[in-house]
Amino acid sequence: MASLTTQFFGIELKSPVVAASCSLTGNIEQIENLAKAGAGAIVLKSLFEEEIDAQLQEELSERKALEPDPEYMDYFDYIIKDENLKNYTNLIKQAKQAVDVPVIASVSCISASDWVVFSRKLEEAGADALELNLFLLPADISRDSAANEQFYFNAITKVLENVGIPVTIKISHYFSNLGQMIQKLSKTGIAGITLFNRFYAPDIDILNEQVVTADVLSQVSDYQMPLRWIGLMADQVDCPLAATTGVHTAETAIKMLLAGAGVVQVASVLYQEGPDYIAKMNEQIKSWMDKKGYDRINDFKGKLANKKKDVVIYERAQFMKYFGGKSYS
Ligand SMILES: Cc1cc2nc3c(=O)[nH]c(=O)nc-3n(C[C@H](O)[C@H](O)[C@H](O)COP(=O)(O)O)c2cc1C
Repeated sequence: MASLTTQFFGIELKSPVVAASCSLTGNIEQIENLAKAGAGAIVLKSLFEEEIDAQLQEELSERKALEPDPEYMDYFDYIIKDENLKNYTNLIKQAKQAVDVPVIASVSCISASDWVVFSRKLEEAGADALELNLFLLPADISRDSAANEQFYFNAITKVLENVGIPVTIKISHYFSNLGQMIQKLSKTGIAGITLFNRFYAPDIDILNEQVVTADVLSQVSDYQMPLRWIGLMADQVDCPLAATTGVHTAETAIKMLLAGAGVVQVASVLYQEGPDYIAKMNEQIKSWMDKKGYDRINDFKGKLANKKKDVVIYERAQFMKYFGGKSYS
């Protein structure tokens, strides 16, 4: 029988199907269900510095009228951050007790100092690895791309200096020179890169003529962009890659592994099908491997990565009149 063992987060995992960071992985009961279903690892819901800051601002504006003392404000800042951190470190401790698969803490910070404090505390609480959810929307036209990119390197350097557990990052595709950036990031000493995170996206309600939030869950065809970049980059990086966004089936997971990913991280399909769906994906991946005669993930991982096969389709972007033998004219 085929073995699903693979490597990511600097750790050996018993399945390449990982429960991605989302609200399900912020709940201990669901964490247990995901582990029981055979998830290779659980990435906990992110601890968001922005969320803590928003809570802080709300409390401060309520208190300001009553208590303008700046020392009191600092104290308040400390209390709120401490409370949020305590809740999160408790989640790590509970998860570590409840499941026997790696528990990965996830942190999303916007300032350099808090990254360090947060990361150390999560390591102390027992997290097996840390995923940095790094995102900066390059919409501020007064900042050049070098300044935006520096944010990523600063965050990684600071965290790596301060924790001993493996650190991976999860990024978006919003870079002006994406291939080179992925390669540079892979050389920083991190244990993996997850391509690509999914975010709230805007949509427009034409009836009410309002900007609204688009569907939170991904669509089955959304896997194509991460697939292209996993395929293009797998042989050009110094750390393993994980694929996320649009992995809804075992078939898509296999595609990602063939393109060169070590694992896939799934969220949307868990909301749609429930945690047990991971067991089905594992069974279907195994059955495909048995049919193909593969004993281990490494037997086929990266078999269709760009460099090995020179697969030009990864690089082809423009539609042509005659494409792949099919005519759409
Ligand atoms: C409801 C929801 C909440 C999420 N929360 C987080 C989060 O806290 N941190 C994070 O890094 N990613 C978060 N994500 C992104 C997922 O981890 C995942 O990378 C993304 O949804 C793409 O995978 P999918 O297509 O399987 O959903 C969230 C996604 C969803 C749908």
